[in-house]
Amino acid sequence: MPITTCIFDAYGTLFDVSAAAREAAAEPGNAALAECWQALAFDWRRKQLEYTWLRAITHEHRDFWRVTRDALDWAMEAQGLRDAGLRERLLALYWTLSPYPEVPGMLTRLKQAGIGTAILSNGSPDMLDGAVRSAGIGALLDDVLSVESVGIYKPAPQVYELVTTRFGCARDEVLFVSSNGWDINGAAGYGFFTAWVNRMGEPRDRLDHPPHEELADLTPIPDIAAAI
Ligand code: LAC
Repeated sequence: MPITTCIFDAYGTLFDVSAAAREAAAEPGNAALAECWQALAFDWRRKQLEYTWLRAITHEHRDFWRVTRDALDWAMEAQGLRDAGLRERLLALYWTLSPYPEVPGMLTRLKQAGIGTAILSNGSPDMLDGAVRSAGIGALLDDVLSVESVGIYKPAPQVYELVTTRFGCARDEVLFVSSNGWDINGAAGYGFFTAWVNRMGEPRDRLDHPPHEELADLTPIPDIAAAI
């Protein structure tokens, strides 16, 4: 089947999740963060994802804003950072994360090719709205789908089902793009064609459904969608 719909993970795929810690570290008065921002960003993301998986497995769902705050609190404590003002600053920056530079041009090419585009994210609708507005990409997306409508995190199959329901398409008409290997595994297992954005050259996850394509950034996505 030709690809009719291209779906993107948000955090880490379209938006740079380390930007909040990096930008705060460069601001005056944040010398302690400047020493450890990479470790903080790594722990913040790692704990955020762990908490989503644990909450899905235990059916104790809390929205992604809650999980993001809890993960930051863990990461700040791990670095010995006790600074309520810094915490608020880091959280505020999470609502305006920078998109990767190739994102607007890549989405524009998909729209010109007549392909449906959307985000499918763990993010809560208000967080995603903030990020999409800040990046100025709202006009390039047909929809922004949040797990909040099903109340469980990826990689639960009912999350991926939001796409086929919204677009009325077959699973193999969808190109699903994510920087998260575990998200690719879930989407490919559901039946989507998948492209893994592996910016850091990480090893492949040892799971059942490998990516169909592996990319260093998002630039080739329109060509991949056209070639299937
Ligand atoms: C998301 C997380 C997984 O946007 O990055 O769904």
